[in-house]
Amino acid sequence: MSASLCTPATFAPVLSGAAILNLSTNLVTGVNSTVSSTFNYNHPTIKVTNATYCNVTVTYTHSGANDTINVETWLPMNDTYNGRLQATGGGGWVAGRFFLSYQTMTAAIGQGYAAVTTDAGLGSATEPTSWGLESPGNPNLNLLQDLASVSLADEAVIAKSLIQSFYGTGPAHSYWSGCSQGGRQGLMLAQRYPDIYDGIVASSPAINWAQFIPALYYSQLMMNLMGQYPKGCELDAIGNAAIAACDGLDGVVDGLISDMDACSFDAFSTVGTVVQNCSQTGTDIPISATAATVANLTWTGARSANGSFLWYGKSFGADLSGSATGQGDAATVCSQNGTCVGNDADANPLLAIDWAKFFIQADANFNMDNITHEQFDSIFQSSVQRYNDIIGTADANLTAFKAAGGKMLTYHGLNDQVIAPKGTEDYYNAVTAAVPDVQSFYRFYQVPGLQHCSGGNGGQPTAIFDAMVAWVENGTVPETLPISFTGNNGTAVNRKLCSYPLKPKYDGMGDSNSADSFVCS
Ligand SMILES: *[C@@H]1O[C@H](CO)[C@@H](O)[C@H](O)[C@H]1NC(C)=O
Ligand SMILES: *[C@@H]1O[C@H](CO)[C@@H](O)[C@H](O)[C@H]1NC(C)=O
Ligand SMILES: *[C@@H]1O[C@H](CO)[C@@H](O)[C@H](O)[C@H]1NC(C)=O
Ligand SMILES: *[C@@H]1O[C@H](CO)[C@@H](O)[C@H](O)[C@H]1NC(C)=O
Ligand SMILES: *[C@@H]1O[C@H](CO)[C@@H](O)[C@H](O)[C@H]1NC(C)=O
Ligand SMILES: *[C@@H]1O[C@H](CO)[C@@H](O)[C@H](O)[C@H]1NC(C)=O
Ligand SMILES: *[C@@H]1O[C@H](CO)[C@@H](O)[C@H](O)[C@H]1NC(C)=O
Ligand SMILES: *[C@@H]1O[C@H](CO)[C@@H](O)[C@H](O)[C@H]1NC(C)=O
Ligand SMILES: *[C@@H]1O[C@H](CO)[C@@H](O)[C@H](O)[C@H]1NC(C)=O
Ligand SMILES: *[C@@H]1O[C@H](CO)[C@@H](O)[C@H](O)[C@H]1NC(C)=O
Ligand SMILES: *[C@@H]1O[C@H](CO)[C@@H](O)[C@H](O)[C@H]1NC(C)=O
Ligand SMILES: *[C@@H]1O[C@H](CO)[C@@H](O)[C@H](O)[C@H]1NC(C)=O
Repeated sequence: MSASLCTPATFAPVLSGAAILNLSTNLVTGVNSTVSSTFNYNHPTIKVTNATYCNVTVTYTHSGANDTINVETWLPMNDTYNGRLQATGGGGWVAGRFFLSYQTMTAAIGQGYAAVTTDAGLGSATEPTSWGLESPGNPNLNLLQDLASVSLADEAVIAKSLIQSFYGTGPAHSYWSGCSQGGRQGLMLAQRYPDIYDGIVASSPAINWAQFIPALYYSQLMMNLMGQYPKGCELDAIGNAAIAACDGLDGVVDGLISDMDACSFDAFSTVGTVVQNCSQTGTDIPISATAATVANLTWTGARSANGSFLWYGKSFGADLSGSATGQGDAATVCSQNGTCVGNDADANPLLAIDWAKFFIQADANFNMDNITHEQFDSIFQSSVQRYNDIIGTADANLTAFKAAGGKMLTYHGLNDQVIAPKGTEDYYNAVTAAVPDVQSFYRFYQVPGLQHCSGGNGGQPTAIFDAMVAWVENGTVPETLPISFTGNNGTAVNRKLCSYPLKPKYDGMGDSNSADSFVCS
């Protein structure tokens, strides 16, 4: 029984430049769980029955860096082990070792993978208050670099060493699976550590961090400068009108915009249209010019005081108010009397505020409520100047990754309310320009209707990880990915995602609920 090997004496990981502080093990038995695809990005729902694994947690520090990092590796018993390593990424400010990584790891164990996650030295914090400043006035650059890149290489070295010790041989194949922060981590691995993983699934990636994070405050800035704040119901109604206007462009009316680039919609055309039973007031209200202005500028994206481009906006169909997701660039809170103010507590502006506080101003008490447009521009510029190389993760030169035989897949929801999908599209285009024959090792899929990683009306790419394994191990090229969802009328709808730059288009004849009726063109 490999269970008897689940003791600290079995393992002796060595990490260059680091000191191992502790290694603990415990045998976990009888794990039964149904891991829902909603919390298992890149994978379908997985039923785990009576799984047993050895939990090995390695604690280490980089000499002189004042960090303490925990890498947690789960090793299934050798009769269920499938010979593969699956590393799982984080989300938001979290590198791993949180609810979502444990969901994915549980599913991975159930399928026979060895699984690993790291906290990058950030402990269990979900935002940077506890670690963002090394001391007042000094951003914690060591921990930011641990999150951005350094912990990712360490994690893989440790996991591969533990696997070697436990099973007597290293993993036959190694994979990364992540979304959002986890998607960014995957891209960083391909960019800086091209030899580690055979396959990387890097979804809805938080790349272009130095730009997109401060840009999450742009709508709040503009509302503050105008001193006017729309009600969430108005923004929701404007978004729904945009979807209705562009829904049919792919040849089928299904509540989804599949061809975002073909969509143009004038928010100002909705002004005066009545929203019935507005959820903020409980009354019928006309859409205001303020709401149209805010929708328009949130779609347009961050611009400097002199009007120059800073970053992309959200697409038509994205949740701008945060009503549906709690992540809305233009989120407001309204009083009984119908007066609204900006909602700094919404997750999107909060990301930007925390970033500016700890990493730009280095002042835990910094308040953005009254900043000028010029101050916003300077925060944005400082972010790019100081942090693009650390955590921007947009290096398009994947030559070494390709040469190492690596494969990568990325999806991005077209209705992503947190990370503008145009940033990922830009990155893929840049890789296409930088490395010959991009499709031979890296593919990208835009997902109609999908919100950030999961959610929305158009389904989730649950087959992408298994498609990666088949590509790496069998050479099966994922020209398309299947996706399915329940239509508005309760019907099962099957569609396909196309490898960018192709887009799915209805053939005009077949059953619009069948993937066969769509072509990639
Ligand atoms: C999990 O299910 C198995 C039966 O398949 C059972 O023997 C085991 O006790 C269950 N584990 C727990 C923790 O309940
Ligand atoms: C569950 O796994 C344990 C080993 O951990 C084994 O002894 C037991 O027979 C299994 N139970 C079932 C129902 O398969
Ligand atoms: C694995 O070990 C670590 C360190 O002891 C512990 O914090 C964690 O809860 C353990 N996980 C499981 C599932 O046993
Ligand atoms: C190390 O970090 C801790 C916080 O994690 C801090 O309290 C301590 O002052 C730091 N030590 C040094 C030497 O910087
Ligand atoms: C599991 O490992 C043990 C040694 O620890 C070995 O005797 C056994 O054959 C292995 N089983 C499998 C299925 O590899
Ligand atoms: C149900 O909805 C789907 C997708 O929204 C559509 O393709 C189909 O035609 C609808 N079926 C009926 C019976 O309305
Ligand atoms: C208005 O919406 C609320 C829920 O937001 C609901 O409880 C109420 O019944 C609705 N009123 C009307 C007149 O539709
Ligand atoms: C915003 O409004 C301006 C002026 O009407 C228009 O030119 C622009 O296309 C709009 N932007 C979006 C994203 O709709
Ligand atoms: C509405 O209520 C808010 C909070 O109670 C208050 O600050 C504001 O002055 C009120 N506005 C009007 C127009 O009554
Ligand atoms: C922002 O300005 C308003 C109005 O001048 C003022 O009431 C508020 O205290 C200011 N907030 C901060 C954080 O400075
Ligand atoms: C791209 O990366 C390769 C391999 O790491 C390197 O040889 C090459 O110089 C890089 N190209 C550019 C334009 O930096
Ligand atoms: C590879 O192809 C074989 C034969 O078709 C199949 O049995 C196996 O499941 C495939 N493996 C993967 C990882 O897709």
